[in-house]
Amino acid sequence: MRIAVAGKGGAGKTTVAATMARVFAERGYRVNALDDDPNPNLAAALGLAPEQISALRRVPREAIFDELVDEEGRASLRLRRPFDEIVSEYGVVGPAGMRVLSMTGLLGAGKG
Ligand SMILES: Nc1ncnc2c1ncn2[C@@H]1O[C@H](COP(=O)(O)OP(=O)(O)OP(=O)(O)O)[C@@H](O)[C@H]1O
Ligand SMILES: [Mg+2]
Repeated sequence: MRIAVAGKGGAGKTTVAATMARVFAERGYRVNALDDDPNPNLAAALGLAPEQISALRRVPREAIFDELVDEEGRASLRLRRPFDEIVSEYGVVGPAGMRVLSMTGLLGAGKG
């Protein structure tokens, strides 16, 4: 099952995502918690130690996705590599054995 948590700024997305990840992992489910916020703080919300957080390497979006556009102009993304391989390369072990990954972060100044 994949659960995406999205919505308005400050609405509680990170708190809800971290709580769900932890509850499912503690119930024995295999959990991969993936942060895609430009200001990522899911790892901290999950209680990872500062050394673990600094060991997190950003999953390079451009290295794992192909963008496909169908005949009607609808775009979709497809993983280039098996997800398990990405998790073993970029995930760090979090509470109750879950894997924690981060896809974003401040990449530099831009316009807009
Ligand atoms: N159910 C709740 N009741 C009261 N406060 C809450 C609740 N859920 C989250 N908060 C608090 O609200 C604030 C924002 O929560 P959180 O960081 O989870 O939101 P967010 O949607 O991830 O924010 P952002 O858009 O900045 O990523 C935090 O200080 C958090 O502790
Ligand atoms: Mg958040």
